[in-house]
Amino acid sequence: MATERVRVRFRARPADEYHVIVGAGTLRHSGTEARRCLNADARRLALISNKKVFELYGATALKSLRAAAFRVEPFLIGDGERFKNLRSLEQALAFLALAGLERTDAVVALGGGIVGDLAGLAAALYLRGLSFLQIPTTLLAQVDASVGGKTAVNMKTGKNTIGVFHQPRAVIVDTETLRTLPARELTAGWCEAVKHGAAGDRRLFDETVDFLKHESPGKAAAASDGRLAQLIAAHVSFKAAIVSGDEREDVGRMDYRSRRILNFGHTTAHALEAVTAYRRFRHGEAVGYGMLVAGEISKRLGMLDSSELELLRDAVRLCGRLPRADDLDPTRIIGALASDKKSVGGSVKWILLERLGRASIVDGREINARTLRASLRAALQRTS
Ligand code: NAD
Ligand code: GLY
Repeated sequence: MATERVRVRFRARPADEYHVIVGAGTLRHSGTEARRCLNADARRLALISNKKVFELYGATALKSLRAAAFRVEPFLIGDGERFKNLRSLEQALAFLALAGLERTDAVVALGGGIVGDLAGLAAALYLRGLSFLQIPTTLLAQVDASVGGKTAVNMKTGKNTIGVFHQPRAVIVDTETLRTLPARELTAGWCEAVKHGAAGDRRLFDETVDFLKHESPGKAAAASDGRLAQLIAAHVSFKAAIVSGDEREDVGRMDYRSRRILNFGHTTAHALEAVTAYRRFRHGEAVGYGMLVAGEISKRLGMLDSSELELLRDAVRLCGRLPRADDLDPTRIIGALASDKKSVGGSVKWILLERLGRASIVDGREINARTLRASLRAALQRTS
């Protein structure tokens, strides 16, 4: 089956361009890809993963990387958002030191967004920056988190508060890994995929919805037939275009191609996650509701047509069942919205929609309390 290749480019730093390779079975060729993109002197690799993913895919990754003459040392972190912290980061850094990695060596992340974010940050910090490869194994990480160079760990006071931008040297997406992914994780990934289309590309939105109409979202039946790889590659191309134009998410930009539009749905999502102590929602599920809240506000401000909001609702429904949110206290959600870490100059910046595929950044002071409360009430109803 053909493999899709997407290039991520940076105008000011042509040498930093990298490829995202998408296809079924690409994990078996990860050694060849690593040799292609890493420094010719690279000898050692630290493979950072977690127990669950390593048991499923570690042996294949090790075999391919070792066949390409790398000395590979695995390091496993705990599974879950609570392990994406400074303690795990410190342990990972200590491991890189003990394993004797040198400046020309590299870190490989094998796992979902949590492994990718932490391994990327460890790579960025150790010896002031090692090369780094992403092998994302969740849909969310394949369409979004593995591309674009955001790395981070959490603090007790907030998510992703410690991090840097550090672009990978390559991203290897193997769609066959999605076969073992639990249905809820697929739903979460599809929500982030719908986000891309809704915020910035109407054609991608339609393609994603069309795929979901013909595939059961809770299965990855198409994992090896090429259509899924094409769709994931289309999402990666979209993200690559946005990231290339605004790598560091310039807070001064308010235009519809700013990287900030990728935070569509995230203002409410972070509040929903915070008021439920990060226990009820997968991040992508919270984004599903967050997009609906932003859509409701957009409609109430007269920016978005009702028929477009209805299409957005259908798309979120097609992603799969979301945990209930209609029992959550709107006052607590509004309180949590106010402490959004993406606020600028003391006010929350909402990513709203002018239409599907065209986002607009709106200052929170333009949204009155009644509109916000009514939008929350309407959007947090059961979706299926
Ligand atoms: P995750 O990394 O927790 O993975 C979800 C679950 O699936 C975990 O239990 C994991 O062990 C398991 N898993 C992974 N691959 C599997 C497979 N193939 N088969 C079976 N189980 C598998 O969650 P996620 O949704 O991938 O990532 C969420 C994280 O990503 C959050 O911390 C979020 O902040 C971050 N994120 C980062 C960016 C970015 O640009 N860097 C973007 C979006 C999200
Ligand atoms: N996931 C949003 C971004 O990478 O900017």
